[in-house]
Amino acid sequence: MNRTVRWKGVQTLKLWGGRFKTSTDVLAEGFTSSISFDWRLYRQDIAGSIAHAKMLAKCGIITQEEGRQLVEGLKTIQKEIENGTFPFRQEYEDIHMNIEARLTELLGEVGGKLHTARSRNDQVALDMHLFMKEQVAEVRQLVLELMETLVSRAEEHLETIFPGYTHLQRAQPVLFSQYLMAYFFMFKRDYERFSDCQKRTDMMPLGAAALAGTPHPIDREYVAAQLGFGQLYENSMDAVSDRDFLLEFLAAASIMMMHLSRLAEELIIWSSQEFGLVEMDDSFSTGSSIMPQKKNPDVAELIRGKTGRVFGSLVGLLTVMKALPLAYHTDMQEDKERTFDAIDTLKNCLKVASGMLRSLRLQEDAIAASFKRDYSVATDVADYLVRKGRPFRRAHEVVGKLVLYCLEEGKGLEDLSLEEFQKIDSAIQEDIYQVITPEASVRARRSTGGTAPGSVRKQIELGKEFIGREKKSF
Ligand code: ARG
Repeated sequence: MNRTVRWKGVQTLKLWGGRFKTSTDVLAEGFTSSISFDWRLYRQDIAGSIAHAKMLAKCGIITQEEGRQLVEGLKTIQKEIENGTFPFRQEYEDIHMNIEARLTELLGEVGGKLHTARSRNDQVALDMHLFMKEQVAEVRQLVLELMETLVSRAEEHLETIFPGYTHLQRAQPVLFSQYLMAYFFMFKRDYERFSDCQKRTDMMPLGAAALAGTPHPIDREYVAAQLGFGQLYENSMDAVSDRDFLLEFLAAASIMMMHLSRLAEELIIWSSQEFGLVEMDDSFSTGSSIMPQKKNPDVAELIRGKTGRVFGSLVGLLTVMKALPLAYHTDMQEDKERTFDAIDTLKNCLKVASGMLRSLRLQEDAIAASFKRDYSVATDVADYLVRKGRPFRRAHEVVGKLVLYCLEEGKGLEDLSLEEFQKIDSAIQEDIYQVITPEASVRARRSTGGTAPGSVRKQIELGKEFIGREKKSF
């Protein structure tokens, strides 16, 4: 098969074909090509090339007229890609060479000047940095939206009592808003991790060329300023060799997905018939193809399930990078699909999680009824005894006995008469009944960060301030 390419009458094998006698095996060509996925970098590649061309002209490495032609050609190519007429070709391997080959088709020999003082090694690093700068900003915005949803649902349910669990056993009553704000603060830390990883994304690698820099009198600061980068990579080998900015994003994304999967799991459990605490809206549930009665929490299940993809991307790229000597190796081409997939997955999960939470309903009657005989105010009885002077250990023992007695009698703590209480500890008085309601339990937990309404209101205020401040920063 003749894999020769022609442009403007010039016959060539590949853009790097000079030292090759035969054409690439068709299998090897398909195997090494990345255009099927890295076409997604076309905007960044063109923006980077325009900045590079302008720099070459400014520094006198090419003429002003050549610079102008390159910029015009690159703009034409962007239009071609966006209106679907651009001829993507596998034999040009990747987005960088597809664009460069087309530029030379359009402009002739001058197209070949664009790659002066540049290598695909620093070019691809630049593209990924530009791409991530945009994507991380979008992710941060979506996280902020999710945080906003949590805050507004927390405000709406500021005083709604909800069961709190440890070991998935009834532990102590909490406010539903306390639950929501717990996730809010997890997501706030996720947001901050993304903000932090933006710093390492905001670094400009171009000018490293293949690995050692270039003898041409380039101006890297000018390129960085045109593209809006805050910093330059200080070492050319580092600039082309690392993908830690991607790993950092994937690590932050994995932690965030871990958080999202826990929230998804809560909703799945709470919406089961056995728990019956919440109801997902029809718009965020699906039916069964065989069992007509079913309403399944598929959206939450998929958030939980897709977590594995993002973890896989992180571990996959760590494995690609492990033990790679400097500088560039094509192994690193394996960074893209998994990064793209992780970004798409995370963004979709963030969007549906917000929608699901916005439309979630509480089964308030069932929740209130569920506190009967659940012993979740047992700690309040112990704390009551502490206030009456008992050491906490002794109080714990006493309440354990009370619960055992209740279990044997088929009663709740709230069903016990004063005589029954006093048989086990004489320090218990009539005022015990004010202590052992879920409302009193929650109200009593006024410690900073605790579940008392005042404390949760403070958390909500902090949350709103944070969101307001961050929104302004976009
Ligand atoms: N497609 C390559 C990648 O994604 C671009 C850099 C290739 N450089 C090279 N010398 N083969 O990493």
